Order: sequence, then structure tokens, then C-alpha cells
Amino acid sequence: MLDFRQDAEANQILARDAERTLPVYARYPVVMDRGEGVYLYDTSGNKYLDLMAGLGVNALGHAHPRMVAAMADQAAKIVHLSPQYATPYAGALAEELCSRAGMKGVFYSTGGSEAVEGALKLARTHARQSSNGSTKHGIVALKNSYHGRTYGSLSVTGQDKYRLDFGPGLPHVSFVERENLEQLRAAVTEDTAAILMEPLLGEGGVHVISAPFMAEARALADKFNALLIFDEIQCGLGRCGDWFASTASGVQPDILILGKPLGGGLPLSAILVNEKLFDAFGVAKHGSTLGGSPMACRLGLEFCNVVEQENLLAKVNDTGDYLLESLKQLAVASPLAVEARGRGLLLGLELNQAARPFAEAGLLRGVLFNVVQGNILRFLPSYLLEREHVDLAVELLYELLGAGSKEVVQEVSLASA
Ligand SMILES: Cc1ncc(COP(=O)(O)O)c(C=O)c1O
Repeated sequence: MLDFRQDAEANQILARDAERTLPVYARYPVVMDRGEGVYLYDTSGNKYLDLMAGLGVNALGHAHPRMVAAMADQAAKIVHLSPQYATPYAGALAEELCSRAGMKGVFYSTGGSEAVEGALKLARTHARQSSNGSTKHGIVALKNSYHGRTYGSLSVTGQDKYRLDFGPGLPHVSFVERENLEQLRAAVTEDTAAILMEPLLGEGGVHVISAPFMAEARALADKFNALLIFDEIQCGLGRCGDWFASTASGVQPDILILGKPLGGGLPLSAILVNEKLFDAFGVAKHGSTLGGSPMACRLGLEFCNVVEQENLLAKVNDTGDYLLESLKQLAVASPLAVEARGRGLLLGLELNQAARPFAEAGLLRGVLFNVVQGNILRFLPSYLLEREHVDLAVELLYELLGAGSKEVVQEVSLASA
């Protein structure tokens, strides 16, 4: 593993960043230079196994040759254009996404938060249109959810720690505990315009939502003429081993929100809507100058093609199951680990103490871990991750988390099985 060193130039870059960029992110003290596949290289020459993958954006790893080629080709043609003009890519990507998701149409934005804003606006306008202008405002979301940092998306994020300093946010928002059917039934009323949830809570600590809970949300939305919105910005587009995390539940939303890896690293998010919402915005009532650029949509198409042609969903399932199983064994072996959970390559290892020191120690040893909720190591690697990379990372975790050597523990547990 890595023999970590940091050169003087990197320290200067870090000092300038600290002086000139707002201290909003708890940064790690390295300066990245380039990436290749599942590895990142910093300017001081250190190499890292990247298990964070740009917070889930770099699903095809770094510098995938097909994405590089598409980007270079498109850069020499058109990067951006007013959304009032068509290019071959936005419609083709919309067709690809809709046919996979069973939806009718797409609106493109830049980031995830912006797409959530659009979905909230759709819920409001749908409520007005479908009830002769009456005002129906309520949004029911989940406690511990994460939907973004802009005002609307923050208002429906079920974590006080992000909201309280900036309130008041949108009114008429209520939060229910995941899997609590009673709370869900009590919260959804005639005033509910939409029920919003992530099928797998990512930032909130990696919690899979059960099919019955999602089905009940669907039934309540139908009963009260509300929309069911699934936020798959983090868990969608292959991350959980299917094209969409909600597929396994058999529950179809009215709006499906996608983002993160969609633009192959460029800002691109999408609101997919069903037939009844296709005309709900109408002309010039919503927009995004940079949303759905030819460059981002072309990369989106290439992303979908690569996932399909390189059979990456099977790989996500295989490597994801292997990683989850390894983390479960580690959770048994380590006195510091509580539970391993998740699906596909969106996994979490909950610790009984702060996880950041372990991520910092991992970095010095050449593996990049991500921390959420203070005490959870979240794994959001590229879909290209192999079992051998898992072994490398898990071996390091055995050491960092005081679980002894992985081999010894496995031998012991096999012997006692
Ligand atoms: C489920 C979910 N929704 C929304 C967002 C916000 O996306 P963005 O940071 O691109 O605005 C995120 C980001 O992590 C997310 O995980």
C-alpha cells in the first residue's frame, strides 16, 4: 500500500484553497491530479483506490476511454446551446431513460437539487390543475432523507441539522419515519400534493426502503390524488444493481428523479414524468439555461450505452454482494463496527464511533472512504470495481477497525461454523 508523501506545491495549493474558498466542505488534505478507472492520483504522486467516486457521480470510474472520446468529439462541435434548439442527444437520451423506466417524458436540469425543485413545482401545479385551482400544498417526505441544499429541496430534507440555520423553509412539509406505515397513513391527507422518498436513503445512512412501504405510499397517493415522487439521484442508474432502485419493489412513481452519474461527470439531472404530467409545466413556466446541454446529454447516452454493453449491472450485483458480505463479516469481527447494509454498490458500514478518523487513516494508506452521518462509512464506488479491490479495502478496514487480520478471522469463523 501507499507510502504517503505530500510535496510543497500541494501544501501551497491547500493553503490557498483554505484562504479563498468558503470552508463549507470538510476537505481531505490532498490535491488530486488525475484518475484512471477506480484509481486516483494526487499531485504528489500518491495513488488511491477511490471508493467514493465523486459522491457516486463517477460510476464509470475516471477517464473511461469511451467517455473521453465522446467528450472530446462533442467539445469540438457544440458544448452548450439554448434549450430552445434541438440537437440529436436530448431526445435520444430521454427515449432511452423513459423506455427503461416506463415513463413518458423528461425535463433536464443541472444538479440533483435543481431537479427536486422542478419536481416540487410539478406537484404544486398538478394539484392546481387537477382540482380546479384549489390550493393543495402538502409534501410528505421521510425523516433522515436527503434531497438537496436549495430552498425547496432543503425544506423536504428530513434532517434538522441541515435545515435549521436557514429556516423558515417551505411550509406544509411533514416528515414520517421510514417503514412506519401508521405515520405515513396519518400524514397523507386531502392537502397532500406529493409523497417524496428515496427508495434507498443514501446520505441519511444507507437504509433500503421496503417494497410494502413504497406500495402503501403509492396507494395513498392514488387515494388522495397526490403524486408519488421517487428521488433516485443517488440510488438510481445502476447503482443498486438495476437501472432503477425502485424496480425491485414493482412500484411505479409519477415522477422519477435522476442525477449524479447521468452526465458522465458533467452537471445533468432529469425529471422523468408519466403521461398525466407530460404537459403539466406548459411552455415557459419552467426552465434551466444549462440543463440538458448537448455535451451532457451526449455523455448521458454514452453512459447508458457503456453500462449496457459492458454488462455493468451484473458487475454491480456481483461486486456489491461480495463487498456487502465482506463488510458483514467485518461487522461481526470488529468491536467498532455495528452493521453493514445497503444494496448493489450503495453500501454502508455503521460504526459505534466517529468514522472520519478511519477515512483519514484510509487516505494515508491509499484507500478513499466516504463518511455520512458522522459514524457511517458509505461505499459509493465506480461500477468497475473488482473483487480484488474489495479485498484490498476490506483488509485495510480489518486493520483499522481492530478486527485483526481478515484471513485469520475468516479461518476462525469457518472453523467455528
Ligand atoms: C438522494 C439525493 N437527492 C438529491 C441530492 C442533491 O443533489 P445535488 O447535490 O446534485 O444537488 C443528492 C445528493 O447527494 C441525493 O443523494
